[in-house]
Amino acid sequence: MKILILNGPNLNLLGKREPEIYGSASFEDYYMSLKEKFTAVELEYFQSNHEGALIDKLHEIGFSYDGIVFNAGAYTHSSIGLADAIKGIETPVVEVHISNVHQREEFRHKSFLSPVCKGVILGFGLKSYDLAIQSFTK
Ligand code: DQA
Repeated sequence: MKILILNGPNLNLLGKREPEIYGSASFEDYYMSLKEKFTAVELEYFQSNHEGALIDKLHEIGFSYDGIVFNAGAYTHSSIGLADAIKGIETPVVEVHISNVHQREEFRHKSFLSPVCKGVILGFGLKSYDLAIQSFTK
């Protein structure tokens, strides 16, 4: 089983960025722990701050991978382009968020991606990624 973790803008700063919201662990360290846990899964990771690069990645792997765990960051709340890309590929996408966006500013309550994703997991910190992978493996 091949699963891609796809992270959007500013998520390269995890560990440094607003630690009271997103925690103090870097994603690279957390990703290594996921790889150790899910030994039966071929796990890959890609991060970009650019909408077009995220769309290109969805197109590139969206007909061959078994699942995509996608935290689109702020693009969640703005990007019709990413929603169309998810709609256009075959691989199911699970939307994840570290924070509970519904407890935050109103502009974070709207997701353009949720209607075209298989499911949504949010609010469990970095564990949201772990739960999303489990949704594909169990
Ligand atoms: C986020 C929530 C978004 O609203 C925000 O723009 C992010 C991170 C989360 O994981 O909680 O960059 O997707």
